[in-house]
Amino acid sequence: MPNLLQLEGPHRGVLRITLHRPEALNALNTALLGELAGVLADAGRDDAIRAVVLTGSRRAFAAGADINEMAERDLVGMLDDPRQRHWAAIARFSKPIVAAINGFTLGGGCELAMHADIRIAGEDAKFGQPEINLGIMPGAGGTQRLVRAVGQALATQMVLTGEPISARRALEAGLISEITQPELTVERATAIAERIAEKAPLAVRLAKEALHKALDTDLATGLRFERHAFTVLAGTADREEGIKAFQEKRRAQFTGR
Ligand code: HXC
Repeated sequence: MPNLLQLEGPHRGVLRITLHRPEALNALNTALLGELAGVLADAGRDDAIRAVVLTGSRRAFAAGADINEMAERDLVGMLDDPRQRHWAAIARFSKPIVAAINGFTLGGGCELAMHADIRIAGEDAKFGQPEINLGIMPGAGGTQRLVRAVGQALATQMVLTGEPISARRALEAGLISEITQPELTVERATAIAERIAEKAPLAVRLAKEALHKALDTDLATGLRFERHAFTVLAGTADREEGIKAFQEKRRAQFTGR
């Protein structure tokens, strides 16, 4: 049973994962990342879970990698850092993650948020990559995913100055898709996740994969992947059910087949 995470559900197909290391503003130590990777691996195999809400506390989604733990690792330690394996497992998760973000979302915390498929933030959330202040730089995708999310100019400013941006700025820049009152963030993220959980699981999974392809391939390769995925879905029972339900003017009952 994990103890740096709180788990609720699945309820209506949604598992809620709350980062719970309040004494360190949810700093992502190896144990927490390992628990998260393990919970997601289990969730990936559980048909009752169709989407995940990932959240932290009102004060912090996560204030970054655990700086005290990092201080103990030298160059050789970094080479064999088990956290890389955990980050890779989080990135591999095939079901949608909706992040409900409040407070400090810094360094590895901002990078973790960018591993989510949809980000909803409370109006006092703060996003930043402050690693430069520690004499280091982002190491879990911050220089790559942030550029893709907010563009070269703002990402460069954030990474090189270490200065955070507000939730409002994050919304304008496209880092988050909605802004809420802080006390409503989890509720809103859960409503979005529940909406997704009602859809055909195979279609959701392939759509997520295709959307990811848009970030790491050229257009022709991405379009080819989309066409293959679209074609594969033509062989599913859920496609038949979805179209039939439309024609019969009723709600579709998807089974994941
Ligand atoms: C370890 C942390 C921490 C962190 C906060 N804490 N952030 N511990 N690692 N990243 C701890 C503090 O030491 C303190 O513990 C407690 O949480 C509360 O924090 P305070 O600093 O007292 O709170 P406040 O004054 O409100 O300031 C909040 C803050 C500040 C602005 C978020 O804590 C801060 O600057 N944190 C570091 C942010 C950062 O640099 N993140 C990037 C890390 S590097 P005590 O025991 O003193 O009460 C990174 C690299 C990723 O993420 C690479 C991935 C591969």
